[in-house]
Amino acid sequence: MGCPTVLLAAALLTLLAPGTGAPISRKASRNKLLLVSFDGFRWDYDQDVDTPNLDAMALDGVKARYMTPAFVTMTSPCHFTLVTGRYIENHGVVHNMFYNTTSKVKLPYHATLGIRTWWDNGSLPIWITAQKQGLRTGSFFYPGGNVTYQDTAVTLSEKEGVLHNYADEKAWRTNIDTVMRWFTEEGLDLVTLYFGEPDSTGHKYGPESQQRRDMVMQVDRTVGYLRDRIRSSGLEGSLNLVITSDHGMATVNKKAPDLVEFHKFPNFTFKDIAFELLDYGPSGMLVPKEGLLEKVYTALKGAHPRLHVYTKESFPASLRYANNPRITPLLMFSDPGYVIHGRLNVQFNNGEHGYHNEVMDMKTIFRAAGPSFKRGLEVEPFESVHVYELLCRLLGIVPEPNDGSLGVLLPTLRDPSPGPPSPRPPTPPSGSALLPRGWSPLVMGLSVATVLLAKVA
Ligand SMILES: *[C@@H]1O[C@H](CO)[C@@H](O)[C@H](O)[C@H]1NC(C)=O
Ligand SMILES: *[C@@H]1O[C@H](CO)[C@@H](O)[C@H](O)[C@H]1NC(C)=O
Ligand SMILES: *[C@@H]1O[C@H](CO)[C@@H](O)[C@H](O)[C@H]1NC(C)=O
Ligand SMILES: *[C@@H]1O[C@H](CO)[C@@H](O)[C@H](O)[C@H]1NC(C)=O
Ligand SMILES: [Zn+2]
Repeated sequence: MGCPTVLLAAALLTLLAPGTGAPISRKASRNKLLLVSFDGFRWDYDQDVDTPNLDAMALDGVKARYMTPAFVTMTSPCHFTLVTGRYIENHGVVHNMFYNTTSKVKLPYHATLGIRTWWDNGSLPIWITAQKQGLRTGSFFYPGGNVTYQDTAVTLSEKEGVLHNYADEKAWRTNIDTVMRWFTEEGLDLVTLYFGEPDSTGHKYGPESQQRRDMVMQVDRTVGYLRDRIRSSGLEGSLNLVITSDHGMATVNKKAPDLVEFHKFPNFTFKDIAFELLDYGPSGMLVPKEGLLEKVYTALKGAHPRLHVYTKESFPASLRYANNPRITPLLMFSDPGYVIHGRLNVQFNNGEHGYHNEVMDMKTIFRAAGPSFKRGLEVEPFESVHVYELLCRLLGIVPEPNDGSLGVLLPTLRDPSPGPPSPRPPTPPSGSALLPRGWSPLVMGLSVATVLLAKVA
């Protein structure tokens, strides 16, 4: 929808924003952007497998030594940080599972993908922000891409079926062909494309298995296919490609003599618990019954040396996770190699994630190539919260308030001249302001007026 009022607003903003030379309305020269996520691609997965296509991409573009995911190192929370630039406590998608501690409803990952209220919790993902500024966007299987935000849906969206086979290489190629058509025929400016591997294989066989190495080779072939298709679609000179992931993977020590098992803890009983979310890898949440918080906390905090139990208030603030209304009064995580068993032992994965984000096995990848990126540059590690600002800069759109900083990834660009001003972190969980903070009242007033106009238009 090329709404003229929005374009006018964009032009005005460009003129008025202090110190900006970057266009947000020069539509003709706007590059397209494809953000690809290969779930659970650990930072070092290319070190024990031949990955000629990823290596070629690194020579043509930018590679981070590794990227630090947000905590909790889980799929939906980390993917949502990538597209909002907010820490998990500030965007509210705090778990892969929807849960309601009052009704006790818990829904698995796939069902949660369709629960609008879980995702639309005050933060606008980049698709919606881009559309509000006149762009067309699409999400192919990307977590959070198939619900509406403040009543707006992405222009084009595909959601995987319940019995989706995440490992089918032929289907991957078909999906890439579809995304290429979205760019060339549907005129999309931004697409986010998600693959459920190598996460599934890493869980099932463990990150050190031959099966995982084979899957990384499949991912690498797919990267080769994708870059070929970008060339054959005539998009090479006008499309920036970012390949990243949500978290890494650690081997589970299933035969450890000291498993973390709630059903064996002395002084702890499930009779004291009103709501529990356990048996989900290394992370756990509990709501003790009325008046029993202190009792349960005391029983748990020294219960196992591999288990770290906190009240919501005492949870490490540096992890930027617990300061959200959805977080339960007690929360916990275990050490690498250990998972948290609840009433019964029901977890049998050989690989897990969800651990502290400073654990090296949780670190993940960041690669980028295209007309806006420098060539053959390897950058030092950074936090995933900064990717969003870069994506907005690549699209020439004004970001929402967020926790990232454009300066971190600006040196990866060929032309790092300043774009629209960056908002100041941190942001409140419910913030949904239309413009970053720090804008002059004049610019703010003009753009608010224009947005209002655009709404009635
Ligand atoms: C949680 O469940 C309770 C009880 O059914 C309900 O009143 C409340 O609205 C629910 N909260 C959310 C956020 O869905
Ligand atoms: C976020 O979700 C919580 C419940 O999970 C709800 O109480 C709160 O109002 C929601 N906030 C927004 C802005 O949607
Ligand atoms: C979800 O995806 C389906 C196709 O898989 C699409 O028809 C539907 O419009 C999408 N919904 C939203 C809100 O994006
Ligand atoms: C269990 O409670 C008893 C009595 O309060 C105490 O002596 C014991 O140290 C507790 N055990 C653990 C593991 O906390
Ligand atoms: Zn994941």
